Amino acid sequence: MADTPAAPQAGAIDVAAVRALFPALHQQVNGAALAYLDNAATTQMPVAVLDAMRRFEEHDRANIHRGVHTLSQRATDAFDGARAALKRFVGAGREHELVFTSGTTEALNTVASGLWAGGPGHAWLREGDEIVVSGLEHHANLVPWQHAARRTGARLRILRPDAEGRVHEAGLQALLSPRTRVFAITACANATGERPPYEALLAMAHGAGALTVLDAAQAVGHAVPALSRLECDFMAFSGHKMYGPMGTGALVGRRAALERLYPLRLGGDMVEWVSFDDAGYAGLPARLEGGTPNVGGAVGLAAAARFIEQQGRAAIDAHVHQLRAHALAGLQSIAGVRVLAPHAQEAALVSFVADEVHPHDIGTLLDERGIAVRTGHHCAEPLLTQLVQGPTTRASFAIYNTHDEVDRLVAAVAHAVKALR
Ligand SMILES: Cc1ncc(COP(=O)(O)O)c(C=O)c1O
Repeated sequence: MADTPAAPQAGAIDVAAVRALFPALHQQVNGAALAYLDNAATTQMPVAVLDAMRRFEEHDRANIHRGVHTLSQRATDAFDGARAALKRFVGAGREHELVFTSGTTEALNTVASGLWAGGPGHAWLREGDEIVVSGLEHHANLVPWQHAARRTGARLRILRPDAEGRVHEAGLQALLSPRTRVFAITACANATGERPPYEALLAMAHGAGALTVLDAAQAVGHAVPALSRLECDFMAFSGHKMYGPMGTGALVGRRAALERLYPLRLGGDMVEWVSFDDAGYAGLPARLEGGTPNVGGAVGLAAAARFIEQQGRAAIDAHVHQLRAHALAGLQSIAGVRVLAPHAQEAALVSFVADEVHPHDIGTLLDERGIAVRTGHHCAEPLLTQLVQGPTTRASFAIYNTHDEVDRLVAAVAHAVKALR
């Protein structure tokens, strides 16, 4: 095997202690200890998150904002407290607001459709405008923009990656024009691990007069963007990729930009007044949170942010980035295996292809050894079609993963490739 980085030193994450906090990790799968390496899809939850949600459901569960009774007030306080905690977590400032969503997909749809759904006179996007989207994106940050372009007559332009899967400032410069109204990019590509220079790209697009959108789904569990330091109007993330519950997430951004969005969920809780003929919509954040929210989920999401803070962001980042480097070195030592974006910094995943072997077959053989990875296009089909003309196998790391699990991964891939060729 090629040179690999040393195992984490004292003072870093105490992985054994951390693992004890995650009940789901302690099981056998197909006769072997589970090695859960599918964290870019969904992370497991620590007991602190499970307990916070259970406490809410057993003690404070009630609908928010509409009740004078004690439980309703406690639930409202819990919801508002979760919002405040998450705003702090992503570095939101006074000019920002956070809207709870069911995840990144809902957050990005809220932006992409909200920019035209107000109709003529209110829409930010109009015929002849241009929307620039990076070519590194998950479908959640591409398909809603395709739809917005179709509905408005705007033109969708793609910031194409190079053959190594990088996007460049010069490429964006060439695409920006006085017609550019939106620029959308990921903080970390889920299919390759590529970490684009999003700070500089967002600043360039902002300078050109565009609204800027950052998909932080793959960054929120490590290398969390600091919102106040970015020229970012909208940022989206999901709870289930940061040790929080599934079906939770947020859209956080500048109030002035959020106020441009026509709400997609019309009904209760998002209005100030209603007559038979008309309604006056509430201010932020209620305006974009129509209907009963997932209050227990918000409580769990805030507990997940607290868990990350308690463990130490820098320590988590160093740990997962080191696991990635260890996996990269091991996989690159296997003949015929190609890792995508090997240069990527701040990545917590490895995505790879093997000559003459289908990723689904690799994934199946890994599962037989208790190793959970993801195979396929990872909802980023255009990018993978450009880079490798097909699907990949992806292993992705979290705070509880170990060097030993990476060694098991590398050994199992070497065995699978040999057996399948
Ligand atoms: C970069 C990126 N964006 C968006 C999403 C969609 O997130 P969700 O399914 O939680 O809405 C994902 C999920 O894998 C992702 O990795």
